[in-house]
Formats: sequence, C-alpha cells, structure tokens
Amino acid sequence: MLSVEQNQRVTQTCGNAPAGELLRRYWQPAALVDELADDRPAVSVELFGEQLVLFRDEKGEYGLLDRHCSHRGADLCFGRLEGGGLRCPFHGWLFDIAGKCLEQPAEPENSNFHTKINHTAYPCIERNGMIFAYLGPGNPPPFPSFDCFVAPEEFTFAFKGHIDANWLQAVEVGIDPAHASFLHRFFEDKDPDEGYGQQFRDSTDEIPVTKLLREVVRPIIEVEETNSGMSIKTLRDLGNAGMHVRVTNLMFPNAIVIPMSNEMTISQWHVPINDQECYWYAIFTDFERKVNRQAMRDQRLALYTLPNYKPLRNRTNAWGYDPKEQRTQTYTGMGMDINVHDNWAVESPGSIFDRSNEHLGTTDKAIIAYRKLLLSAIDSVALGKAAPKQGAALKGPLSVDTIGAADNWEGCWIECDMARRDRSPWAKEI
Ligand code: FES
Ligand SMILES: [Fe+2]
Repeated sequence: MLSVEQNQRVTQTCGNAPAGELLRRYWQPAALVDELADDRPAVSVELFGEQLVLFRDEKGEYGLLDRHCSHRGADLCFGRLEGGGLRCPFHGWLFDIAGKCLEQPAEPENSNFHTKINHTAYPCIERNGMIFAYLGPGNPPPFPSFDCFVAPEEFTFAFKGHIDANWLQAVEVGIDPAHASFLHRFFEDKDPDEGYGQQFRDSTDEIPVTKLLREVVRPIIEVEETNSGMSIKTLRDLGNAGMHVRVTNLMFPNAIVIPMSNEMTISQWHVPINDQECYWYAIFTDFERKVNRQAMRDQRLALYTLPNYKPLRNRTNAWGYDPKEQRTQTYTGMGMDINVHDNWAVESPGSIFDRSNEHLGTTDKAIIAYRKLLLSAIDSVALGKAAPKQGAALKGPLSVDTIGAADNWEGCWIECDMARRDRSPWAKEI
C-alpha cells in the first residue's frame, strides 16, 4: 500500500513531476521505425505530456522537436522535409534535428534573427526497429548493451501497443509472476508448433507452459536486486517432474525482460504518453533463428489498429468479454491473445489506481521491492544526485523458462542460459 502522496509521486510524470524527472534521465522509446515508413515525413509523439514531432532528415538522422513552431506555434507535424531539416508550412522557418533555426525566408536577407532561436530538440538513436530519445538534462547516458540491442536486426522484431492507463500499472503487471496461472489460464493446451510468436504457447521440456501454469498456482517468488534493476525467479514445484523456474527481470526504471520461449525473449518498456495513457514498446529477440517478422507483425495487427497502435479490444467494448468463453475456454473470457488479458488487468483498475486502497499479498513481493527502488531513485534525482542503474556495461539479462531436475534444480537457469548462448550465432556470455 502507498499513501495518496506516495502514489502521486510514483505515477505523475508530466511537467516537472519528480517521477518524470527520473524517467527522462534514461533513453526512452519514442516511436517505431515503421511509423516513419509511409509517405508522411513527420509524425506526432507525446512523451510525459510533452507534444513533440519526430522526423528523419535527408541524411537519415532523426530529430525530435517541440511540436509547435518557435515562431507562432503552428503544428510541425505538417512540416515539409527539405533543406536539411523540417520546414514549417506557415512562414517557412526551417529547423534542423538539433533545433537550430536554419532559415526564416520572410525575414530581411541579412537578418541574423534565426541564430537567436533555440527550438526544443532531443537526441535520438535508432536500435533494432525502435527510435529511442533522451529527454533529460545534460548529456545522454551511455546506451546499455542489453541482448535486444546487441542482437543483429534480423533476429529481432519491434512492435508497440497503446494502453489506456498510467504507466506504472503496466510495469506492475509485468513484474507480477503469479498472475500467469490465473489471468492467462487456458483450459486446453495447444500444439506449441502453432504458437510461434505468442507468449505462453510454448512448452518447457515437453510440458506445455499452459499446463504447468494451470496446475501449479502457488509459486515461490525470489527477488534479487541487480546492477540493472531486479531479477525475479518464480519457482513452481512439479514434484517428480522437477522444478519449473522462470527468470524475469525489471530493467530500471520502466522496462521488463521476460522469456517468451526457449529461444526468444521480450524486452518491453512502458512509456508514459501522459499520466492517463502509456505505450508498451517491445523488442522480441531470438537467440537462435532469424525472426519471422511478417508472421509476428500479422499476429499483432490482428489486434491493433494503425497509426496509433490502439487495441481493437479495449475499455470501450469491455475487452471483447464473452461469458460463455469464460466458462469453457479461458479464465478471462477475453480471447486467446494474452495481450488482451494484460490490457484488462492494467486498464480495469482505472486510469490511475489509488494504491492507498490496495492490499498487497505474498505474491506482490517484486512490486513492493520495485516501488522501494523507484521512490528512492525519485528522491535521489530530486536531490540532484545521479540516476541509478545506467551504463554501457549493462548486459543480458538472464531471462529463461526452464525445468530443473527434482533433486538438483538450483542453478539450472544458469546452465539453460549458457546453453542458449552457446547455440546462438550472436549472443555472448553475460
Ligand atoms: S508559425 Fe512556423 S513559420 Fe510561422
Ligand atoms: Fe500477463
């Protein structure tokens, strides 16, 4: 439980709210590369309530600028891509990716007024299908060396989805390992070969994950602080069949890395659009094979609409809830795609859940540990200290789903991770 004041402190990110000040000190996903692929040269981006415009200049470099022109505020999302930057269609002022005003064509010819304009601009980096931006003060921190960034692009697939609720609700669903036994329960197991690109549709050592989640509903959860955030081990005792171990991670401050199958992981950020909405951004990373991007994209486009990546099943249509399906096929009655279940879990508490009304139990161990880290980091940054858990040396993390022998399971996750890296054409030891 948090006090009303603490709840505000961890959820509010707009303006100069302290949690926003913390999140801004990390590279954050701003858009998918795909969003700039069609005809339109500039697209809108909203981060922490700030209205921005993203474009790629003629040299292929990205600019993320204040959406409203420094002259008289016209919307630069309608800008012209030319002359080495983005030109406002109102009076032709031209801005480069650093926010320098290069031209003011209606001003007198020898005017140097343009040199006095500093349009707000944020640095961007493209990595494996995503454009990351740094919206904090000073120089950006080094980019971390997580697997999803080290992997060659063909071994990855990036996508995003809109969430109609505060960012912290989304992170807290991501670090809650117990919910998978309930929220994502399927009454029947499918052939794992049909589950490519879908979470909880694989099998671990021949046991379908759906079966073991359904049958062992009281996991032991172990949380350990790491140099990049937290490692969360979820242990499900399968008796003679061994110990199911799932290792997931919180990458501080607002990402998770979880196993999707034996070969694939999902690195997922929850980024505030404003305090009532966020986007999840994910890089799916395969350790062994090139990703079938078309299949993964098609699966997701069956649920999301472009250009805003809003889910078809959402609050306005009760997430497609079907009571008959709930009786016979799934725990939620909201279809076979677990993203819908998670969206319901994130959105149904309301836009910003009042955590002074909650009752945390044993299964909320990781959430409690994370909030402590978060509040302490917010306080540090507010006092002018450095933001924690950053650096180019941050690697991995270890994120696996495996079963250890009943009498010898301790450490089986390390062997599983090493074996996967040995098989991988690109992954090195962490
Ligand atoms: S408002 Fe953009 S150039 Fe005048
Ligand atoms: Fe989930």
